[in-house]
Amino acid sequence: MNILVTGGAGFIGSNHVRLLLETTTDRVVNLDVLTYAGNLANLAGLEDNPQYRFVLGDITDRQKVREILAGESIEAVVHFAAESHVDRSVEGPEIFVRTNILGTEILLEECRRAKVKRFVMVSTDEVYGSLGNDGMFTENTPLAPNSPYAASKAAADLMCRSFFKTFNFPVIITRCSNNYGPYQFPEKLIPLMIANILEEKTLPVYGDGMNVRDWLYVGDHCSAIDKVMRSGKEGEVYNIGGCNEMPNLELVHLLVDKLGKSRDLISFVKDRPGHDLRYAIDAGKIMNELDWKPSLDFSKGLDLTVAWYVENRTWWEEIRTGEYKKYYQQMYGNRGGHSSGHGDANG
Ligand code: NAD
Ligand code: DAU
Repeated sequence: MNILVTGGAGFIGSNHVRLLLETTTDRVVNLDVLTYAGNLANLAGLEDNPQYRFVLGDITDRQKVREILAGESIEAVVHFAAESHVDRSVEGPEIFVRTNILGTEILLEECRRAKVKRFVMVSTDEVYGSLGNDGMFTENTPLAPNSPYAASKAAADLMCRSFFKTFNFPVIITRCSNNYGPYQFPEKLIPLMIANILEEKTLPVYGDGMNVRDWLYVGDHCSAIDKVMRSGKEGEVYNIGGCNEMPNLELVHLLVDKLGKSRDLISFVKDRPGHDLRYAIDAGKIMNELDWKPSLDFSKGLDLTVAWYVENRTWWEEIRTGEYKKYYQQMYGNRGGHSSGHGDANG
C-alpha cells in the first residue's frame, strides 16, 4: 500500500513512520513543512530506505498535496500534521486555525478528488473538554473544547465527519490521550521536566499540580492508529488510551526521584488559562472491536522514556540551544517551507 503520513517529522508522526517501515512493506511518503516542532533528526537513519520518501511541504499548499497524491498513487493517508501545543495556542491561535482546520480541509478535498481509500484523522481527547473527578470520555461524549488548540482539532474532526456524511468519503477519526516517549519536543510536560531535572533547572508546575492526565506510550498510540487504518470502520470515531491517570505533581515527583535529584527544584507557577482539570479515556471500543491493547504499562514506559532522554541528550540539547534551528535555516531557508514563528522551549 502507498501511505501518505503528514507531520511525520514530529513526535508521534516520526514514531509512526518508523513503525510502518519496521513492520510492513508499505511505501511511506512523509509530507512535513518542518515547523519548530518538525525535526529530521527524528528520522535519522531512514534517508536511504527505498520504502520511504520525505517531502518538504505544507498541507495548506493545495498544489503540492495534489501532486503528491497523484504522483505517489497514494491509497491511504494518516494525518498527524498540526500545531499541537496548548500553551502556544493561548499565545497565538491563528496558526492553529490555518494548519489544523484549513490544512485538514484542503487535505480532505484533495484526497476525495484523488479517490484515496482511507483517511485517518489523528485527533485528541481534548476535543471533549474537561472531566470532573469522575467519569471517562467515550466516543459519544459531546465535544466541548476549551483551548484554541482543542477548538481547532474539534473543527477539523467535524470537517472530517461532514466529508463522510456528505460525500461518503472514507474517513476515520482517532482521539487519543496524552502521549509520551522518544522524540517528544521538550516543551511538553514529560520531556521538559526530564531535561530540566538533568540540567538541575526549575521545574514549573502549573497551578497546584493536581490536574490529571491519562498517559499512553507513543508506540502504543501508533499501533492503535495502524489498526484503525487497516481494520477500522469508515465514518467511526475510536478513542485510544491506556488507563494511566496521574496528577501532574505526582508524575513530576516520580521523574525527580527516578533521576535522583531534589524535589526542591519544583516551582508552582501561574496556571494555564482555561486549564482542563482531568482527562480519562474509555478505550473499550477499540479494544473490543479491533482487538487492540497497549503493550506497555506506565512504569515500564516511563523507564524507557527516561532512559531515552538520558542516552539522547544531544537530541534535546540541540533543540534547546537552538542549534537545530540554525541547521534548518541553512538547509531549508530558501526552499519554501515556513516556520510557525514560535520561539524556543528552553524551560
Ligand atoms: P508535533 O508538534 O510533535 O509534530 C507536528 C508535526 O506537524 C511537525 O513535524 C510539524 O513540522 C508538522 N506540521 C505542522 N504544520 C504543518 C503544515 N502546515 N504542513 C505540514 N506539516 C506541518 O505533534 P505531535 O505531538 O506529534 O502530534 C501529532 C498529532 O497527534 C497532532 O495532530 C496532535 O493533535 C495529535 N495528538 C497528539 C497527542 C500528544 O500527546 N502529543 C495526543 C493525541 C493526539
Ligand atoms: O490529551 C492529548 C493532548 O496532550 C494532545 O492533544 C496535545 O497535543 C498534547 O500537547 C497534550 O496536551 P496537554 O496540554 O495535556 O500536554 P502538556 O504536556 O502541555 O501538559 C500536560 C499537563 O502538564 C497539563 O496539565 C499542563 C501541565 N504542565 C505542562 C507544562 C508544559 C505543567 O504543569 N508545567 C509545564 O511546564
